[in-house]
Amino acid sequence: MKLKIQQLSKTYANGVHALDQLNLEISTGMFGLLGPNGAGKSTLMRTIATLQQPDSGEISFGDISVLKDPMALRRVLGYLPQSFGVYPKMSAEKLLDYFAILKGIDSKKDRNTVIGEVLELTNLHEVRKKSVSGYSGGMKQRFGIAQLLLNNPRLIIVDEPTAGLDPAERNRFLNVIREVGATNTVIFSTHIVDDVKELCTDMAIMNGGRILQQLTPTEATDRLTNKIWVKKISRTELNAHEKLHTVLSSGFNADNSLEIRVYAEQQPEEDFVNTAPNLEDAYFIALKSDSTS
Ligand SMILES: Nc1ncnc2c1ncn2[C@@H]1O[C@H](COP(=O)(O)OP(=O)(O)O)[C@@H](O)[C@H]1O
Ligand SMILES: [Mg+2]
Repeated sequence: MKLKIQQLSKTYANGVHALDQLNLEISTGMFGLLGPNGAGKSTLMRTIATLQQPDSGEISFGDISVLKDPMALRRVLGYLPQSFGVYPKMSAEKLLDYFAILKGIDSKKDRNTVIGEVLELTNLHEVRKKSVSGYSGGMKQRFGIAQLLLNNPRLIIVDEPTAGLDPAERNRFLNVIREVGATNTVIFSTHIVDDVKELCTDMAIMNGGRILQQLTPTEATDRLTNKIWVKKISRTELNAHEKLHTVLSSGFNADNSLEIRVYAEQQPEEDFVNTAPNLEDAYFIALKSDSTS
C-alpha cells in the first residue's frame, strides 16, 4: 500500500509555514523521516494521522482519500505521538484491555489473544502486571507500540520515539520497531541519523516544511564516494577552514587537535585525506545546501 502526499501546505496562525507544498511517496517497509527540530515532522505526521487539517494538498493511502474520509484511514492507522501524556496507574494488561475495547474489539477472548501477542512482540510480557505509570521511558515507548498494534494497523506512524531514551533502551526499542516494520508501512521520524541508518530501507530529509532529498540510506552515502575529506588541524585554524571549505563536522582528537570533515568534489588541499562517506555527511550536506539556497 502506497502513501502519497501531494502539495501539502500548512501555515499556523502565528505565520509559521510548517508545511510548504510538500510532496512525498512512501511504500511498504521502514521509512525514516529525518530532520532537525522545527522541520515540520510532527505537523506532517499529525496531518497524515488526520488529527489536524492542512490548508491545501492531497493525501492518499492505497485507495483511501485521507482528507475526505478520515475515518477510513483511522481504521487502518496506528499512531504514536511525540509525547503521549500521562499514563494512569493501571497495569499494562488492564490498560491494553481498555484500549482494545475503545478500538471496538468486543469479544473478551479476542482481546486476550491480541493483548498476549502485542505484549510478546514488545517484550513487555514479564511486566504486564506492573503499572505503566512506573515504567521507564523505553518501556513506555514499547507500550506505546503495543497499544497501536491492537487493531492490526497497516500504516504505522511513530513520531520521534527514541528521543530521550538511553542507548540500551533505544536498542531494545529499535529491535521491536524493526520486527513491526517487516510487514507494515512504518513512518518513523527522528533527528538522530543513526536511527535511520540502523533501521530504514528508505528515507527522506526534511527541513523548512519541505522534503530536501528522498533516497535510500545506501544511495545517500554512495553518492558521496570520493567526496569526503578529513584533515587534522589546530583549534585556531577552524575559522579559516570554515571560510574556505564546506566543513561538515569537527571532532576533538585525544591530543586536543581537531579533525574536520569536508565535502568537496576534489581534494581541497594537499594534506586532506579521502575517507568513506557516512549518512551523517549526507544529512549535513542536504541541510547546508538548503540554508544557503
Ligand atoms: N500549534 C502550533 N502553532 C504554531 N506554530 C506551531 C505549532 N506547532 C508547530 N509549530 C511550528 O511549526 C514548525 C514545525 O513544527 P513541528 O511540526 O513540531 O516540527 P518538528 O516536529 O520537526 O520539530 C516549528 O517552527 C514550530 O514552532
Ligand atoms: Mg516533532
